[in-house]
Amino acid sequence: MKPSQAQQLIRTLTDQINQYNDEYYQDGESSIDDDQYDILLEQLIQLEEQFPQYLTMQSPSQRVGGNTVKNFTAVKHRHAMLSLSNLYSRSDLESWHDSTVSRLTDAPVLFGCEVKIDGVAISLIYENGIFSRAITRGNGETGDDVTQNIRTIRSLPLELKEPINLEVRGEVFLPRKRFEQINQQREREGLPLFKNPRNAAAGTIRTKDTKLVAQRGLDVLLYDVVEGQTSQFHFKNLEFISELSLPVNVYRENCANADEIFTFCDRWEKEKPSLPFDIDGVVIKVDDLDQRRTLGVTAKSPRWATAWKFKAEKAKSQLISVENSIGRTGTLTPVANLEPVELMGTEVKRATLHNYDQIARLGIHEQDTLFVEKGGDIIPKIVGVDFSKRKEFSKPILAPENCPVCNSPLSRLEQEIDLHCDNLSCPAIVEGCLEHFISKKAMDIQSFGKALIRLFIQKGFVSEIPDIYMLHEKRNAMIQLEGMGDKSVDNLLNAIDNSKSKPLNHFIYALGIRHIGEKAAKTLAVQAGSVTQFLDLTEKELVTVSDFGPIMISSVLLWIQHPEHIEMIRKLISLGLNPEPLAVNLDQPFVNLRVVITGKLSQPRDIWKNRLETLGFQVSSSVSGKTNYLLAGEDAGSKREKALKLNIPILSESEMEALLNGK
Ligand code: IVH
Repeated sequence: MKPSQAQQLIRTLTDQINQYNDEYYQDGESSIDDDQYDILLEQLIQLEEQFPQYLTMQSPSQRVGGNTVKNFTAVKHRHAMLSLSNLYSRSDLESWHDSTVSRLTDAPVLFGCEVKIDGVAISLIYENGIFSRAITRGNGETGDDVTQNIRTIRSLPLELKEPINLEVRGEVFLPRKRFEQINQQREREGLPLFKNPRNAAAGTIRTKDTKLVAQRGLDVLLYDVVEGQTSQFHFKNLEFISELSLPVNVYRENCANADEIFTFCDRWEKEKPSLPFDIDGVVIKVDDLDQRRTLGVTAKSPRWATAWKFKAEKAKSQLISVENSIGRTGTLTPVANLEPVELMGTEVKRATLHNYDQIARLGIHEQDTLFVEKGGDIIPKIVGVDFSKRKEFSKPILAPENCPVCNSPLSRLEQEIDLHCDNLSCPAIVEGCLEHFISKKAMDIQSFGKALIRLFIQKGFVSEIPDIYMLHEKRNAMIQLEGMGDKSVDNLLNAIDNSKSKPLNHFIYALGIRHIGEKAAKTLAVQAGSVTQFLDLTEKELVTVSDFGPIMISSVLLWIQHPEHIEMIRKLISLGLNPEPLAVNLDQPFVNLRVVITGKLSQPRDIWKNRLETLGFQVSSSVSGKTNYLLAGEDAGSKREKALKLNIPILSESEMEALLNGK
């Protein structure tokens, strides 16, 4: 074939495929069947392979994936991606409505209500009508470039009908049906299941194999136009991009007052299961962009929009059995196996019972009929017993005395409700600890994963954390494993090697000390300065650490005094582990100043807290001699009095603003 002919044919095939795509995604029906579609696509792919000079990124062949993303590059958003404040009740809704309207006295206010899809936020950029970039929300300021993965979404045009510049935002999600198919397949393949469609979508977006992404079947619905608006009104802008064939969230309505907004929220709360995807609420927005500007934004969320969150849904189901699992810290968690029941559109078969105190409190007996509740992404939980269905002579569920995995006796610490397995070699604990150690927020050893950990434990390659750093001795044996080759083994060994110099806070978090999360690990890393000094921390020093209560302090002390832990750290250091000390950011003007927040503020307390913490403040909950400032809103009570007594400066919100602005 002559190049000119090929070029012509590529153009024709592209137009044809796009046409069928449009038919399918715009009108919901296609004039050809899937097989014919695939044949056309295959022809196009082959032609483009022969004549790569005619391949463009807008070609429908680019949706199939096939290339591997090395790393997702961080990209700064041109417009910050804010999050939303939440409303949980009718009175919340009325106050939000009233305060919004009272700030906009000049003209009536029209609202736009849209169902809130429970997926992953995305920002899409079209340049001259060509899809050029997709960026995740990230921290709101900077996100990850996931363009190659988003290109696989078939409902998204890669080229618009008009050569315009646009930045639009929406939610990427997995339709519930796809989610179920994917999990069924994963179950067959022995892979860990995704918890819910949102987790599956989030995981998929971060997948580096674009072909896999294409197979997962993500979808997107847009809800915002941030650049390239053609109207002063939000819904008009949505109509405009919809006419450009962009997929827009159609489950929306204009509402003129709180009653209408409430009716919309109430309706979708009831009709939620009828949608093909998960929603977790309704987003309410002021429709007029001029009014939005008047309202402005607070530190984290706009004043012109808010989210109505749905209440958790309840269902009844019969208890089949109680399964006890042991987590990485040795804590025993009872989980209920239930008769499958539909809850928020998904089938629930298991639900957490938290602990045996909870089981006793609810008074659960064998074969009881239980109330199960599920809200948002929360794991379903048991909230009660339907006593009218209690079986005669059924026995109460009692706590086991021995570890279900290693059979050693379970213990219970004073003041704590959880039962514990104290055998540090318990296989469940070993597996959990290793998984935690390599995880993202800990040592972030990429290319390691739960499945590999399990396999390595089975093969006897690892049985404690230091073994990870001796894996290079097992290189030959590892290469022999199915699915592993020279390259993947070397990648893994490199990643392990690189983790030796992870920052100290990651390392401390990776140790999996009870009650020590990411934030506490950071505080400890700053306080200690190095691994050896971390082991030398004393009670006296820990007591001075802000936000560290007695439970955290005793947990740290117990850990660092345990001979096996000291030995493990010694071993790790001798294997070359050398965590990087955490530099205190002296650019933070308010580093280590202690502030307490109290009273009713004009924005949620967490927003102030986050903002102050990023500037270096330590935000604590009670006023003491060490407190530097009290940020007090309306109706500040005893904390204000205490601050007055202790002569601690009491600042209003505007005075705090002034302090932050250096005035
Ligand atoms: S508007 C500043 N509209 O909900 C306005 N968000 O909790 C930002 N979401 O991050 C968002 N459906 O990921 C908006 N129709 C909708 C939405 C929606 C889902 C998500 C979005 C956002 C989160 C806020």
